[in-house]
Amino acid sequence: MTNHQTRCPAPGFLSRTRGGIDVPHDFPAILGDVQDRLARQDFGDARIADYIPALATVPDDRFAMTLRLVDGREYAVGDADIPFSIQSISKVFALVLALRSCGDDLWQAVRREPSGSAFNSLIQIEQEDGIPRNPFINAGAIRVCDLIASRFANPDRSVAEFLGQLCGNREIRIDNEVYLSEDEHGNRNRAIAYLLKSFGKLDNPVEDVVRAYFKQCSVAMTCREMARAALFLANRGTGTDGEPVLSPLENARINALMLTCGMYDGVGDFAFSVGIPAKSGVGGGIIGIIPGEFSVCVWSPKLDQRGNSAAGITALEMLMGAIGRSVF
Ligand code: DON
Repeated sequence: MTNHQTRCPAPGFLSRTRGGIDVPHDFPAILGDVQDRLARQDFGDARIADYIPALATVPDDRFAMTLRLVDGREYAVGDADIPFSIQSISKVFALVLALRSCGDDLWQAVRREPSGSAFNSLIQIEQEDGIPRNPFINAGAIRVCDLIASRFANPDRSVAEFLGQLCGNREIRIDNEVYLSEDEHGNRNRAIAYLLKSFGKLDNPVEDVVRAYFKQCSVAMTCREMARAALFLANRGTGTDGEPVLSPLENARINALMLTCGMYDGVGDFAFSVGIPAKSGVGGGIIGIIPGEFSVCVWSPKLDQRGNSAAGITALEMLMGAIGRSVF
């Protein structure tokens, strides 16, 4: 494992855990400790995703974690400069893009309730007349893609370009091998899109929408880039370049959705054990934030049974434990 840990002894945010006296967090030491402890832990049944075969070609012992404070300081350990497939993490950024364009009309198309079901389930679509429970399950994300397809000149690239803008690297790319693999094995997502269409809840042709959806999921980014792209969520809607991305109110709402829906049917356990708004992807990445403080991205490809990174969840739990924080 390569190590890109930032070794500067800069103090982090203050901890009030030592007898009421404020002391700075030593984030380099905390992240190093998380990495060391994880290396000794066995994640039993956790497996790399192989229902998109290209994802299974990644070495499954990769690990990276990047923390970005709202004041611009950044700390990283592990493979933080190796791109990974962002998969469903893209759904947060697609939602933000669609919200900026549609405003509150967006909430006519998708609801804001946790699904309690697998991310790629079809059952609720049928039961709930084609209105997806939330924008992070596949049905909701496909509908959000449809809204983007109606409003942007190049929907296949608009989420990737937005991410490039947010993280300050306009060169970020769509991994074509992952895209082709998703496309070839995309029957379930096509089934979801056709079911939405059958309820009259998809405005554009199914193939156009699923292509844009597969492409946004196939964006490859590093942990460092992802922590930068997500920083606005911790910073009342203001990005790393100081530009507004969302209003503070809309930003708070995205965080509420991440807290209640971002980890799918694992969201309750995650709120209990980690306690922050977060979003996972089957590439093994998870982003999370503490409002007003920092964004964090962790990457470890082996997934638990709900499709969330097993070591990633434990890493975030260790981090929050070390700094004595949660949003609660
Ligand atoms: O549509 C899919 O199944 C994938 N492209 C994305 C799913 C995903 O990342 C779920 N997250 N944990």
